Amino acid sequence: MSNQTIKKNGTIKWQSPSNLAIIKYWGKFGSQFPRNTSISFTLDKAHTITQLKYNVKDVKDEQISLSFTFEGKQNEAFEHKVKAFLNKINNDYFPFLKSYHLHFDSFNSFPHSSGIASSASGMSALALCLCTMENELYGTLADTGLFYRKASYIARLGSGSACRSIFPYMALWGSHADIEASSNEIAIPYEDKIHPVFKNYHDDILILSNKEKSVSSTAGHGLMENNPFADSRYKQANERMLTLLKALEDGNTQLFGEIAEAEALTLHALMMCSEPSYMLIDPKSVEVINLVRQYRLDTKIPVYFSLDAGPNIHLLYPNEYQSQVSSFVEDQLKPLCYEQRIIYDQVGLGPKKLEN
Ligand code: DP6
Repeated sequence: MSNQTIKKNGTIKWQSPSNLAIIKYWGKFGSQFPRNTSISFTLDKAHTITQLKYNVKDVKDEQISLSFTFEGKQNEAFEHKVKAFLNKINNDYFPFLKSYHLHFDSFNSFPHSSGIASSASGMSALALCLCTMENELYGTLADTGLFYRKASYIARLGSGSACRSIFPYMALWGSHADIEASSNEIAIPYEDKIHPVFKNYHDDILILSNKEKSVSSTAGHGLMENNPFADSRYKQANERMLTLLKALEDGNTQLFGEIAEAEALTLHALMMCSEPSYMLIDPKSVEVINLVRQYRLDTKIPVYFSLDAGPNIHLLYPNEYQSQVSSFVEDQLKPLCYEQRIIYDQVGLGPKKLEN
């Protein structure tokens, strides 16, 4: 395509979800490659909407030029973070970016101070906007499969777990000798081999604290390098993965839940035995965990919990138990939540391109 016909400006908008890992990514090497295979639920309600406006520069220079507003207000921290990221990747993946001024405007569906990690939804939304821009300018990503593979690759470079948010229902990331097409570079969609019970699974996110994390995930991954349990952990994750995939295929919600809880607690145990040691759960997390386990024992309903790198509890259960579980949540768990906040989320359909 000749220069004269290349678009001079445009507006692109994507909505992209957060995700909850069932087998956790914890430990990385090289350019954001995972030490073990992970798999996650793609969520529905917890998402980021990012709009990108691009305008061709009058005079092309060698700088990435961008501005960033978050929820309508200029946000210098995000601006620096995204600028540093684009400076790192543009030459290799989007060489046209320096010819444009870029303005990003981003919104999260969940409250800013909710302690919900926004890097997966934020970085995946950003990657999708950049891939759409490339396709609008050059038509090089017209193939849908290729488009989503590149989006997942770029999202990974921004934040490892973000590469999984690109696909509906569930996505798997990290190469595994026994899993066909698994890759360290991109996540792969994992919707075809899961039982229907998991396609509308509930994930109620109980917000127990609004505090900033004391140790970022990136620093946490770094501490795995000297963690004395690291090697056995990576081996364990890859073995658990095979058991989990079978449970997902069979619709075995009990085995699924047992693995989800074991993974959540392993993640936090790894933090506690890092050097230096640190803790991201708090007493309320433990209180909720005990209540969930007691409720399960009393009712035989397969309600299990997971945790991300923070104190909030994700309550996982099949759709058919929604009304019973809802009374439990409202009566016993909601009062323990920060400002009674709960995000009633569910497994979702993945990112959506929105009209401007
Ligand atoms: C505990 O993807 O946030 O949520 O790659 O350094 O950006 P970076 O880390 P990040 O780590 C997420 C860790 C986790 C588990 C998971 O999502 O698999």
